[in-house]
Amino acid sequence: MIKQAIIPLAGLGTRLLPLTSVFAKELLPINGKPGIEYILDECIEAGIKEVIFIISKKKLMIKKYFYNDALYKNIIKRKKDPRIIKEYKKILKYKKMIKFVFQDKPLGTGDAVLKTKKFIKDKYFLMLLPDDLIIKKNCSKSMISIHKKFKSSVMASMKVNKNEVSRWGIYNVKKKIDKINFFIKSVVEKPTIKQAPSNNAVIGRYILPKTIFAKLINLKPSKGGEIHITDAIQSLINDNNKFVGHNFSGKYLDCGTMKGYINSTLEIVKI
Ligand code: UTP
Repeated sequence: MIKQAIIPLAGLGTRLLPLTSVFAKELLPINGKPGIEYILDECIEAGIKEVIFIISKKKLMIKKYFYNDALYKNIIKRKKDPRIIKEYKKILKYKKMIKFVFQDKPLGTGDAVLKTKKFIKDKYFLMLLPDDLIIKKNCSKSMISIHKKFKSSVMASMKVNKNEVSRWGIYNVKKKIDKINFFIKSVVEKPTIKQAPSNNAVIGRYILPKTIFAKLINLKPSKGGEIHITDAIQSLINDNNKFVGHNFSGKYLDCGTMKGYINSTLEIVKI
């Protein structure tokens, strides 16, 4: 069973500057609710019991959001507003399941994942990238079913425009399983249009094996001088570990850019 999830939150968020010069983008409201709460709700509904947040000192605001008990208690004592009581209860529910680890320098997603090494208990864990919202269908839940069926790692994926491949991790199919699931042959981080083996992009949901930590320890920075999780995944594939690409059926919302962030609210109000 997959009971633990990790969420890297220690990036700089440069695409959302100037907002991110003072604010954690994961707390920005999407239809009145912080983006990170959508991610936590997806985890809870998928049966996750513990979530590890990888943050940095610059992102301490995220920890504070879940640890503001004195403020809530004070206000609730003076003003018995049922809305505030309900919100506080929700925060407490999230807080109970979150652990925080720190990545001091944003050296890349691979380095961020490595920080969770000593907390991962089971053979496999879930990773969610908080910029990637998937609505209408719980992607993590579907991926956990696929993991159970194939006893493999799983990555969420979708077809992207050929001229946009350099924004994503792109994979090549080894064997088609059915219309929406594929065994992966190789994966490359942000390739040029020429280098891209296909237009199958990896989206921010991964079921990864604990053995990935041994790969991450030895990884050197690659594209853009960062340590990429994609390189560790390729190394596992080279050792014959099975990775399934799952074309999810929910709707993808890219909250990492201003255009995508604004659009996410417009899409969510429609549901
Ligand atoms: P990205 O590189 O896509 O986003 O990282 P970013 O760094 O947040 O924002 P931009 O690109 O500068 O606009 C994907 C995810 O991995 C986390 C980020 O917080 C984001 O959730 N991350 C990235 C880390 O936790 N540590 C890192 O060193 C790099």
